[in-house]
Amino acid sequence: MVVQLGDIVPDFEADTTVGKIRFHEWLGDSWGVLFSHPKDYTPVCTTELGEVARLQPEFDRRSTKVIGLSVDDVASHLKWESDIEEVRGHAVGFPMIGDADRKVSTLFGMIHPNASDTLTVRSVFIIDPAKKLRLEMTYPASVGRNFAEILRVLDALQLSDAFPVVTPVNWKPGDEVIVANSVSAEAARKQFEGFREVKSYLRFAKDPKA
Ligand code: BEZ
Repeated sequence: MVVQLGDIVPDFEADTTVGKIRFHEWLGDSWGVLFSHPKDYTPVCTTELGEVARLQPEFDRRSTKVIGLSVDDVASHLKWESDIEEVRGHAVGFPMIGDADRKVSTLFGMIHPNASDTLTVRSVFIIDPAKKLRLEMTYPASVGRNFAEILRVLDALQLSDAFPVVTPVNWKPGDEVIVANSVSAEAARKQFEGFREVKSYLRFAKDPKA
């Protein structure tokens, strides 16, 4: 694996559908989601990009910039985006990196040669405002990703950064959270509504953002 959780993600300069960008500068103080597509004008990717375009306000609400990548050039991306808007009803308002030379895909380990030595797999990278990698997901080319899950992870990460809590299986915003074991029961009772202790190591409380 090229980039691992907790690493500062590589910086790069690239041509995109909104012009040339330097990645870290483009991210600024925002969270970021970088996601790759095997190729332009492919059916699964068309549905995914239409969905991310539809969800753009949800990413904005989470102070998160979204950027896609595929191993074709920017001219091809721009033509494909017209199709995406036509068939999915939402204009792609985020940049798409043209990566015909596979520079960025190689930097982020998005090409898995035993799957395909020319196409990228479906990678997702969630990057925090300190430019650290917080989630990496790899899907095969044949399976469209669930972007509701990516929003859910953003919510969980942002909650755990703001409060001493972690999130249990299948958590979604508004559900109970787990109070970090670094917080004493006495302090947790004062800080959190609905604090309850199931085991000394398993303590729940109401979602502090709910
Ligand atoms: C697709 O996006 O539909 C796709 C891309 C590459 C391989 C298989 C499917």
